[in-house]
Amino acid sequence: MVKNLIHETTVVKKAVIPAAGLGTRFLPASKAIPKEMFPVVDKPAIQYIVEEAVKSGIDDIIIVTGKDKTAIENHFDRVPELYSVLEEKGKKDWLKQLQEIDNLADIYYIRQKEPLGLGHAVLCAKKHIGNEPFAVLLGDDLILSDKPALKNLINVYEKHNSSVLCVQKVSKSEIPKFGIIKYKKVNGQIVVEGMVEKPAVNKAPSDLAIVGRYLLKPEIFGILEEIPFGKGNELQLTDGLRILNEIDKLMAYEIQDGQWLTVGDKMSYLKANIEYALKRPEMNKELSKYLKNSVDLI
Ligand code: G1P
Repeated sequence: MVKNLIHETTVVKKAVIPAAGLGTRFLPASKAIPKEMFPVVDKPAIQYIVEEAVKSGIDDIIIVTGKDKTAIENHFDRVPELYSVLEEKGKKDWLKQLQEIDNLADIYYIRQKEPLGLGHAVLCAKKHIGNEPFAVLLGDDLILSDKPALKNLINVYEKHNSSVLCVQKVSKSEIPKFGIIKYKKVNGQIVVEGMVEKPAVNKAPSDLAIVGRYLLKPEIFGILEEIPFGKGNELQLTDGLRILNEIDKLMAYEIQDGQWLTVGDKMSYLKANIEYALKRPEMNKELSKYLKNSVDLI
């Protein structure tokens, strides 16, 4: 299989992308179309996530899907009828782009039969991952950067042999939306000492929020099998990580040179589209002009 995007080699070979959520924050748009398939400029959000994993050296990807998510499988599949039409019409560039999507990685699908939470979605991938370290990439979090963000976590894993969380500072008002870590700095590295899922501002141990990128040791599976359901009556990955942190070292990587853009709700989705479009040379000028004029009219 041709994997054009792979630039790196790494001991981390597998990634899990949970994509089984019901997308209630995006209704009615998400009623028939999985929110992971919503376009950011011209690519579905999940394609950026798969590309980030592949550019980080991972080519074995498990997408944990749920009810009504076949559009995701179709997107990464071959469509010979469409290719013949494009070939006949001489649309070589399009053909190349579509074939690149088919060849991005070895993608496997596992179905989460009930929406029982992020921890449960990750646990669904246990058999496929086996006894290896693996990455988790959440589809709601895009990281716009020249270097794939996940690669930075892999580097920390390889240097310290510890599981790694991706984090970024957030404002007070955003604290209740995320997992928040307690940490200390040792020789410039962030050592995690605890974490709370979506705390109230006055209960938050810091302002460093967990971004949806994780590099985990397989011990997390045994923990997720044992712990009770947590916040929202769901099996929370954050609860499992807190236990992992008690038995093993857990580090965090703070995003340095990328822009964390969430696409999990309507407003952040709109902003992400604008940021990604502004990075496109063919769109930047016209869109900047449009945005400027719109601001002047307000
Ligand atoms: C999940 C995690 C949370 C993390 C967030 C990042 O929450 O549980 O710890 O901060 O992703 O986007 P969710 O957004 O799925 O509710």
